[in-house]
Amino acid sequence: MTDCLTIVGVQWGDEGKGKITDLLADRADIVARYQGGANAGHTVVVEGRKIVLHQIPSGILNPRSLCLIGPAVVIDPQTIINEFQELIDAGWIVNPERLRISSQAHVVMPYHKTLDKLREAARTKGKIGTTGRGIGPAYEDMVSRAGIRVRDFCNEERLAERLHALLPERNAVMQFLGGEPVQVESVLEWARPLAARISDYQADTGKLLADCIGRGGKVLFESAQGTLLDVIHGTYPFVTSSFTSAPAAFSLSGIGIARTGVVLAVVKAYTTRVGEGPFPTEDFGAFGARLRENGHEFGATTGRPRRCGALDLPALRYTFRVNGVTSIALTKMDVLSGFDSFPVCIAYDVPGRGRVNELVADDFTTPGIQPIYESWPGWSEDIGGVLSIESLPANCRAFIGRLERELGVPIDIVSTAPDRESTIVVNPVW
Ligand code: GDP
Ligand code: IMO
Ligand code: MG
Repeated sequence: MTDCLTIVGVQWGDEGKGKITDLLADRADIVARYQGGANAGHTVVVEGRKIVLHQIPSGILNPRSLCLIGPAVVIDPQTIINEFQELIDAGWIVNPERLRISSQAHVVMPYHKTLDKLREAARTKGKIGTTGRGIGPAYEDMVSRAGIRVRDFCNEERLAERLHALLPERNAVMQFLGGEPVQVESVLEWARPLAARISDYQADTGKLLADCIGRGGKVLFESAQGTLLDVIHGTYPFVTSSFTSAPAAFSLSGIGIARTGVVLAVVKAYTTRVGEGPFPTEDFGAFGARLRENGHEFGATTGRPRRCGALDLPALRYTFRVNGVTSIALTKMDVLSGFDSFPVCIAYDVPGRGRVNELVADDFTTPGIQPIYESWPGWSEDIGGVLSIESLPANCRAFIGRLERELGVPIDIVSTAPDRESTIVVNPVW
């Protein structure tokens, strides 16, 4: 069997990656996050309790696996400590035997959050609708070599040295955008207790992964966001600032690509998006409103209502190509219960390209792009919690079969409600 499994969102995020990661973590020796930060909100429901994880991998609820936060994740120290506490209060164990953080990961500093909000406020048009978690500015500082890594953050002398060198420029930008400058001393005061809490979690996570694979262990990579939010392959500039796609899991985690393993796409049975940017199948009418209501489509991080619309097959064919998808977990099928029929986008009319079955990145922002819909027959039965394919209504099974044929990849998992148990594993994926 395979030793690496990458779980990737193939729409605009919130596909149900947290639930699927938690489900499959029972076979993992390591569950590793490889990008993003506290902009993510991954919901796991176990024994009636709901936990939303922002930075800690969703494997933490499975006692077997060691959880890693890799070097390309941006860490928000206060938020991660709050997450530790929330988990501990709910009866889970969080300690350096269960969780390690890459010493090379970059830290989201308070001025990154300030800059994120000031920039959004300054945009008169073209707002991105960020989560305000400082993600963009933290990644900017990483690539411009002006970042603070966890190892710098946990060494006050080095942190002070970095801040003295870096803050004047950041302060000038904040003042330019109408904000207040920050002083080195006040940042050091803020950092001191947080560094003390996270210092013991530091590790070389790439080495831990390599050693685990070398021993024949199994690694699950958990991505955040979705491929259409990828900074290169997504709907630029309405994207996040990290590399969200599955192939990045290996390079960003510091292990080679000799073992690519299973690439499991988490596909929501319809489409949602939070924040601004193109969304060609967005439904502003009753269908979209009902999806939002039935699917409780409100952001797990910011609480914002999610924009909702039809499943988009040409967009999925694009993101499947980018990721090299080998297996599908289909989520939120139950939300489609109760419709006589519902639209599915099967192709597009793209000015200059004609009718296409698969989009390319530029199509999303091509003016006049027109989705072509088909109406697929619905089912009236509530399928929430159904545990076998045979027990699903015929039209629901037909939906699954058609989707497999259209995408050319097997649907190995079907999720029918938020909790861990309400899942049909058609084929074990690893
Ligand atoms: P993630 O960011 O990809 O982990 O997804 P989120 O947790 O942000 O959003 C998915 C939401 O759908 C969460 O509230 C989940 O509890 C919920 N969910 C996951 N799978 C299912 C499902 O099959 N049916 C229903 N009704 N809800 C689901
Ligand atoms: P999970 O992992 C959905 C969106 C924001 C915004 C854009 C940029 O839960 O699927 P950022 O704060 O990252 O600079 O915002 O990206 N966004 C998400 N949308 N799910 C997420 O994560 C998201 N993380 C960021 O809404 O449009
Ligand atoms: Mg989410």
